[in-house]
Amino acid sequence: MKYLKDLFDAHMSMDMYPDVRTIDDVPYPEFIIKDKRYICLCSNNYLGLSIHPEVKEAALEGVKRYGIGTCESRIIAGNMTVFEDLERTIAKFKNTDAAMVFATGFMTNIGVIPAIMDDFGLPGFPSIKNEDNLIIGDVLNHMSIIDGCRLSRAHLKSYLHKDMGHLESILERTKAKRKLIITDGVFSMDGDLAPLPKILELAKRYDAMVMIDDAHATGVIGENGRGTSEYFGVEGEVDWVMGTLSKAIGAIGGYLTGSFDLLQMLRMRTHSYIFSSGVPPEQACGIMAALKIIKEQPELRKRFWENVNHLKGGLKKAGFDIMDSETQIIPVLVGDERKCIEMARLLFDKGIIAPCLRWPAVPPGKSRIRCTTIATHTKPHIEYAIKTFYEIGKKLDII
Ligand SMILES: Cc1ncc(COP(=O)(O)O)c(C=O)c1O
Repeated sequence: MKYLKDLFDAHMSMDMYPDVRTIDDVPYPEFIIKDKRYICLCSNNYLGLSIHPEVKEAALEGVKRYGIGTCESRIIAGNMTVFEDLERTIAKFKNTDAAMVFATGFMTNIGVIPAIMDDFGLPGFPSIKNEDNLIIGDVLNHMSIIDGCRLSRAHLKSYLHKDMGHLESILERTKAKRKLIITDGVFSMDGDLAPLPKILELAKRYDAMVMIDDAHATGVIGENGRGTSEYFGVEGEVDWVMGTLSKAIGAIGGYLTGSFDLLQMLRMRTHSYIFSSGVPPEQACGIMAALKIIKEQPELRKRFWENVNHLKGGLKKAGFDIMDSETQIIPVLVGDERKCIEMARLLFDKGIIAPCLRWPAVPPGKSRIRCTTIATHTKPHIEYAIKTFYEIGKKLDII
């Protein structure tokens, strides 16, 4: 216990406990806290679908029909029609053979990566030694990928962020029999894109599998919102694509797409699928309604990108360093942790919610305010945000 008390004290002395805001109401793109309205500039609810009337209606119908949970794993007593409908809907949306859904994106990564790489000692199956099993990941991969890799018991190596020369040098030197290259499609903290075509070229040359985490790409990247594979014109070439239903889709859940047979195999092996309950049924109903809107209303995505570009352009012009963002994730680099915390607090005082992200979410010394927009932000919202960032940036000597 003393160890835990010391650990707690160490966290508190470093002021690690974040400024968590308690939100009373969520009329996106604003939040209400104690009767005051705030502009939400940090949500992944990119298209505002979590509160779309058609999505809410579909979820309510789902509650009436199925109740609010399955109370079992899919493979025991929790496999309702609505989950198979949802998997078919996601496969169609992603233009793939098949899809598999999970309770969250985190559960997808921590279940799927071990299920692909670890044979779990299957009786009669020739076991592969851990050191013959290699996962190579971008150093900035999301924590759920990192945890999934650790659970897989495979040998792990990282390549410098997007450095294809480094990735190739690892592939060249390894003698591992089974190799998986894994990367975020859109990097969740920096907002840049993985160089997917080059990764696929190297994977082919060195006989490696590729897995992409399209959490932040699903619904917004690519002409139809199908993600990074669509954006780069390489649909069907990535072995495994996972994503979340908790960002542009506006709900909760994770998915994996791939070939039908391989997904059937994973249904027999993925611990977070077998030993855990799935997405709640009313969420599945809401998700299908959200995917229908994404397909039928491309103007929503257009408005979203107009807002992204407006905010990005304004912050850049004001003199902020928004790193190499190529997408809707706009990191406003502050660097110094204390200054970044102060900036987030001053923004909050001025009616903007955009928290400070610091270690371990980003490397030490790279603290930042991570901004995102929503399709339903208005021009005045964005203009007010740019003006307020500018004033606070000047005050804190950041620009
Ligand atoms: C890149 C990435 N992968 C996976 C996840 C996990 O998704 P979920 O919130 O559905 O668990 C996130 C969420 O932050 C993410 O940003």
